[in-house]
Amino acid sequence: MTIGIASDHAGALYKAEISLYLVRRGYDVVDFGTYEGTQSVDYPDFANALAEGISKGMVEKGIALCGTGNGMAITLNHCPGIRAGLAWNRETARLVKAHNDANVLALPARFISLVMAKACVKMWLETGFEGGRHQRRIDKIR
Ligand code: RB5
Repeated sequence: MTIGIASDHAGALYKAEISLYLVRRGYDVVDFGTYEGTQSVDYPDFANALAEGISKGMVEKGIALCGTGNGMAITLNHCPGIRAGLAWNRETARLVKAHNDANVLALPARFISLVMAKACVKMWLETGFEGGRHQRRIDKIR
């Protein structure tokens, strides 16, 4: 599976660590930036790049990091075909897939540890969408 990853400056260090974590586990990773480390940048630039990568089929799903995760999630949720959801612990990471079928996991890099961020990624990737009433609700979003 190919996973896209994107962040602003606030998520850049976690982006690098999570990319390594994924590659070590056999995933292909496409990095949509920032490529400028912790130098201040604007999160929509990278959220939009990730969304385009998903919509063009370059990557199947994505991980987006900024300080709170909200800037990334808000931007991504304006993009067709994207359902981005915020997680901050294992259970919210499980539910954002099981109930919301999020194809992008948004993480608040300034508010969770790196260990927790990796645990969220693992949980989200290993969880399946439950469908049923949750599919009905997702259909109502459109
Ligand atoms: C950057 O300072 C911060 O505003 C950004 O990373 C994010 O938290 C926005 O939602």
